[in-house]
Formats: sequence, C-alpha cells, structure tokens
Amino acid sequence: MQLNQLVLLLSLPATILSFVILPEADVFASPPQSPDSSIICPKRIDEAVGDGVTGPSTSAGSRPCICHEAALGEIEVLAEVAAEHIPFADLVEEVVEGPTVQVTRLAPKHANAAQPDGEDADDQPLPVVIWHGLGDSADAAGLQEIAELVDMVHPGTYTYIISVTGTRGSADRQASFFGNVSQQIETVCHLLAEDNILRTAPAIDAIGFSQGGQFLRGYVQRCGSWAPKIRSLLTFGSQHNGIAEFQKCSGTSDWLCQGANALLKSSTVWSDFIQSRLVPAQYYRDLNEYDKYLEHSNFLADINNERKVKNATYAENLAKLDKFVMIVFGDDRTVIPKDSGWFDEVNMTSNSVTKLRDRPIYKEDWIGLKKLDEKGALDFLTLAGEHMQLVDKDLMKLFKSYFGPAGKKFGGTAPLAPDSGKLDL
Ligand SMILES: *[C@@H]1O[C@H](CO)[C@@H](O)[C@H](O)[C@H]1NC(C)=O
Ligand SMILES: *[C@@H]1O[C@H](CO)[C@@H](O)[C@H](O)[C@H]1NC(C)=O
Ligand SMILES: *[C@@H]1O[C@H](CO)[C@@H](O)[C@H](O)[C@H]1NC(C)=O
Repeated sequence: MQLNQLVLLLSLPATILSFVILPEADVFASPPQSPDSSIICPKRIDEAVGDGVTGPSTSAGSRPCICHEAALGEIEVLAEVAAEHIPFADLVEEVVEGPTVQVTRLAPKHANAAQPDGEDADDQPLPVVIWHGLGDSADAAGLQEIAELVDMVHPGTYTYIISVTGTRGSADRQASFFGNVSQQIETVCHLLAEDNILRTAPAIDAIGFSQGGQFLRGYVQRCGSWAPKIRSLLTFGSQHNGIAEFQKCSGTSDWLCQGANALLKSSTVWSDFIQSRLVPAQYYRDLNEYDKYLEHSNFLADINNERKVKNATYAENLAKLDKFVMIVFGDDRTVIPKDSGWFDEVNMTSNSVTKLRDRPIYKEDWIGLKKLDEKGALDFLTLAGEHMQLVDKDLMKLFKSYFGPAGKKFGGTAPLAPDSGKLDL
C-alpha cells in the first residue's frame, strides 16, 4: 500500500476505518502452515487470503503481526470505494449485510444416517459439528482435514462444518468478522435443528475453533432445550472470558495493526453500531471498562450471565453437557489473554490471574460450570504451540476420548490429569 492511500484511510471517520481495516486484520489467524505435514492449520493464512502473505514461520514465537500484504490489497479497494463518496450507509451495507449462516455438509463416503437401524446402531458415532474461527472459511482445506481425521478415528461419522454465509469462501470469511453474533447463533440453531441427520441423532458432538468455541457454547446455552443436543463440546483456544486486546502488533511501525487496536480501544467499541456488527467486539472484555462492557456487550456479558439479572436457562442448558473440554494453547500469543480459554480472569495491569474456580461465575454457578465440574464433565487441557497450531496425533487422541457412539462412557478414560490439564500423549 502506498503512503498516500494510508493517509486517505486514516482520514476516514473512525467507524468506517474500523470496517475497512478489520476485515483483513486476521486477529486470530493461525501462523502459517509448518512445513511439517503432520501439523494441520485450520486457519492457514495462505489459504484464507492468497499468496505472499508471510513466509513459513521460523518459530511460533516470531509470528509477524498479521496485517499483511494481501490484506492491504483489499483495503486499497475499500479505500477507493470510500474515496468515491459512496454514501456511508451503502458502504456499510456492502460490508456488513447478508450473514445468513449456512451449514456445509461434508459427506464422508461412508456416512450413515444416525437413526437406529438394526444391530449396528449402537456403534454409530454421533455426528460432529465444527464451527471455525475468525478469518477462516468452511471450505478451507484445513477444516476438511479435521473432518477426515474425525472420520478416521470414528469411521462413518457424519461431519458438518458450519459456514457463515453463502457459497464463496470469502463471504463466509467476512461473516466471521461481521454480523450480530446473537443472530448468527440463532440461525445456526435453526439450521442444525432442521437437518434430518442431526435432529434424529441421539446427540451430537462439537468442535469450536477459537471464537467458534464460545459461539457453540452460546448455541448450547440459548438453544440447548430444543436444538440438537451436544454431548461433548471441545473448544480450542477460545475466548470464553473475552479478549482484552485484539491482537499484539509485531512493531510500532505496523500502522494498520496499531490502528485497529487503537480503534477498538476507543469508545466506538461500545457503540451499538459496532457491537451489532463487528464480531470480535462482541467478546471484547476490558476490566478497566467493565461497566461499559456490562452495559453494551452484545454477546459475552449476556452469555456469561455477568449482568445483575441472570438467565437460569443458560446454566441449566450448559450443565447438560456430558463433557465440556476447554483446550488452551500453551504458547498462544494471539488470544490475549490466552487464559480466557479456561475462563480464567487476568488483570492486565498487575498481570495476576484469577482461576475460574475462584471466580463468582463459578462459585455462584452463573452458567452451570460448577455443576459440570462437580459431575466430572469439565476438562482443562493444554496443547503445546501457538494459537490453532494443531498436530493430528493430538487431535486423534481427543476425538478418540470424547467422540464416538452414543453409549460411550467417559469415566476414567479421559487422557488428562485433572488440574494441570496436560494432555497425556
Ligand atoms: C433465557 O434464555 C432463554 C434461551 O435463550 C430464552 O428463551 C429466555 O427468554 C431467556 N430468559 C430471559 C429472562 O431473558
Ligand atoms: C443483535 O441481534 C439480537 C437478536 O436479533 C437483538 O436482540 C440485538 O438487539 C442485536 N444487537 C444489537 C447491538 O443490535
Ligand atoms: C488490577 O490490578 C491493579 C494493580 O494491582 C489494581 O490497581 C486494579 O484495581 C486491578 N484491576 C481490577 C479490575 O481489579
């Protein structure tokens, strides 16, 4: 991007600017795929945005700020659009509208209806639903590899990848940035409930990658009494307790990255306008502005029952899970703080961590986590590596432990040491 274009960009009103910058900011994108083919990156930057983004990472720690070149190309286009004096409303319509959520049905060759049908019905693995993360799209090869892995571990698994919007990957990807999360979840509830296989299965299992994790939890809490029931919910690097920052920038010269952070730190993040449209803003949670968060958060403050008036249904529904497995990436530098994946609260000023079990949300059981814990259904796991850096043998171990036929018993077989949460491989 040329300097004059940047100047043009920065002269736009903040609200427009945030929309121009954020679609490609790749807040939670994973590091580029490792040359090691055993590592699957469901959110590979190269797939999502095209070529020439970043080279192979030398190490997880040297991950560049992800305001990358391909993104700049798109920003240029948007900046031009803005410069042509297209009315503000039109610009926003263009970017924001149309996130009807769709389900992409992956049909493994040997997928069977989950309906009981003769003697083999007991062995039929439950269907698996996957909700991808920010900046990803359902047709990404990485997600299909995940589905194939599930099918390898439990042959015949009927796997769904939830896709936000229509046919093109870029539209789906865009809807992971833009839309009203509550509406997106509601749509997903209906789509899953209308699906013949999911609605007739005794239950379903689910994988939420990054933000898809807290959205699937939203699905359970809000629609758990009528939509297909989730048995095991696995969330990978999710932001259950929100994010305090949108991303860490690699350097102070990274203008766009800094700009995105600055915008989201500004008051605009709490406006209804942003809260109803910008997906990550709806799980932004800043302890220093906790009152504003409580008042304006369109998703997280509600789904975590943080407001005075609690919704008891949320706790009832979540407590019905057989397993809620929260996986944190040990070297996650993308989710800030990464402890959010376990509902731990971090005071970013003093850098002190309050563990979930010491927090009111647990002690007063606002959303059913204590009930889950008491019945042995709450698992805290750690995987090595950066955000969404997945290794297939870890995944297979997890799928083996938590997915499979309906009658599966979980007691004692879990691959974990209760508190440390280390996955025993
Ligand atoms: C609580 O949540 C359920 C499920 O989303 C909803 O149907 C109900 O209206 C909510 N109750 C209140 C008091 O908001
Ligand atoms: C998001 O959608 C929900 C459900 O339609 C609605 O109740 C809520 O007001 C919307 N949020 C905002 C901030 O507009
Ligand atoms: C975070 O820690 C700082 C320093 O100890 C303290 O002053 C501040 O009140 C804490 N913030 C919250 C929200 O607890």
